[in-house]
Amino acid sequence: GGATRYEAESATLSAGGTVDANHAGFSGTGFANAANAVGSYVEWRVTGPASALTFGYANGSTAARPVDIAVDGTVTAAGVAFPPTGAWTTWSTVTRQLSLPAGSHTVRVTATTADGPANLDYLDV
Ligand code: GCU
Repeated sequence: GGATRYEAESATLSAGGTVDANHAGFSGTGFANAANAVGSYVEWRVTGPASALTFGYANGSTAARPVDIAVDGTVTAAGVAFPPTGAWTTWSTVTRQLSLPAGSHTVRVTATTADGPANLDYLDV
């Protein structure tokens, strides 16, 4: 079957994060604008099994916005780049293959630079 979409506006944001809707083209009712800080994060609760994670995002800055991706609290992919998309209204995806077992899991993306994460729209599992 197809992926299940988990909107970022339903995710958990670290302190200072906001759900915004000021850059058009997002899925659902908005997107997660996590704080511009090392350690700021967006966390989803998702249901496996799955073989890939696909993040919808926009990065209107000129530098990548790397994050560590953690499943159930363990980093499974470190420093995953979310490259510039050209504008905050230009949305793209980053996909990581992984083997997510059946059942309920947390997926957290945590910024590794002071810029924080990209604006995050959804996670497809
Ligand atoms: C701009 C943009 C925000 C974005 C921010 C950033 O302020 O409007 O949506 O989150 O840049 O650099 O992270």
